[in-house]
Amino acid sequence: MADWIPAEVITNRHWNSDLFSLVLRANIEPFKAGQFTKLGLEIDGKMVQRAYSFVNPPSDSNIEIYATRVADGLLSPRLHGLDAGDTVLISARANGFFTLNEIPDSEHLWMLATGTAIGPYLSILRESDVWRRFRKVVLIHAVRYSADLSYQGEINDLLERYPEQLIVQPFVSREPAPLSLPGRIPQAIADGMLERHIGLTLHPDQSQIMLCGNPEMVKETKAILETMGFTKNLRRKAGQITMEHYW
Ligand SMILES: Cc1cc2nc3c(=O)[nH]c(=O)nc-3n(C[C@H](O)[C@H](O)[C@H](O)COP(=O)(O)OP(=O)(O)OC[C@H]3O[C@@H](n4cnc5c(N)ncnc54)[C@H](O)[C@@H]3O)c2cc1C
Ligand SMILES: NC(=O)c1ccc[n+]([C@@H]2O[C@H](COP(=O)([O-])OP(=O)(O)OC[C@H]3O[C@@H](n4cnc5c(N)ncnc54)[C@H](OP(=O)(O)O)[C@@H]3O)[C@@H](O)[C@H]2O)c1
Repeated sequence: MADWIPAEVITNRHWNSDLFSLVLRANIEPFKAGQFTKLGLEIDGKMVQRAYSFVNPPSDSNIEIYATRVADGLLSPRLHGLDAGDTVLISARANGFFTLNEIPDSEHLWMLATGTAIGPYLSILRESDVWRRFRKVVLIHAVRYSADLSYQGEINDLLERYPEQLIVQPFVSREPAPLSLPGRIPQAIADGMLERHIGLTLHPDQSQIMLCGNPEMVKETKAILETMGFTKNLRRKAGQITMEHYW
């Protein structure tokens, strides 16, 4: 059972018709960047709870969640409809191991996301550890439409702050979009397009890879990386692929 406490909605920012960010205030326990919490609402007399990654770095006192309204989903349409002043239940304690302390040292860190899974990376990138530990950090965000590329302000701030270290590459799959790559992440790795475009080589000796979001993207990307010599990163046996599935 989660240890539920109330959270007050400070803002609910709608980026487009589906994507939204909730800023919440609640007295939660300390968490690590990359972890997730649970949000819950009572719907028709039943408690409905789902996992959501923190977007804010742990040092921020406000909690931020980035989510999409799943058309026929149970909880996300309700969260999408919350207004400032409303209350949602939140788990006081964070969960998850998609955190930097689980990633072995290497030269380059590749952070690959679909859709809302950019969230945990924004939390990690706004802490100092990642910039001390990796010479280059590559942030890849794959979305359907360019209007789904949220958090450009925060990403541009990071690019200004770490111009020598950070490389950001969006993918937009369902329309042509300037500065974005077309298609999907796994294919772009398989045919070498991503490495050519970024200008870095993906190699197990120098690259750690984080995969987050759509489970099919995670599965297909992992399979291709395995053909290139990468292995899953386990606590008992260090590897180079660390994953988080959103469903
Ligand atoms: C560890 C973890 C962290 C998560 N963090 C986030 C997060 O930060 N933001 C977020 O929006 N969701 C996140 N999710 C997914 C979230 O928990 C819910 O599944 C989602 O909000 C849908 O809930 P629902 O009740 O509306 O739909 P449900 O009735 O539970 O429907 C689930 C279906 O919705 C689709 N779906 C679920 N999540 C997404 C998504 N993020 N993007 C696109 N399609 C999706 C899939 O087709 C899935 O089968 C996370 C899940 C896990 C396991
Ligand atoms: N984003 C929108 O405009 C939109 C519109 C209507 C509804 N929705 C809601 O949002 C949900 C979908 O959200 P989303 O667009 O954030 O997530 P998504 O469907 O996971 O798509 C995000 C990115 O992941 C790619 N992708 C999908 N399957 C993949 C795979 N097997 N391997 C590699 N890449 C893969 C998609 O490419 P492809 O484009 O090639 O699939 C897209 O570029 C739906 O459930 C729906 O409720 C969103």
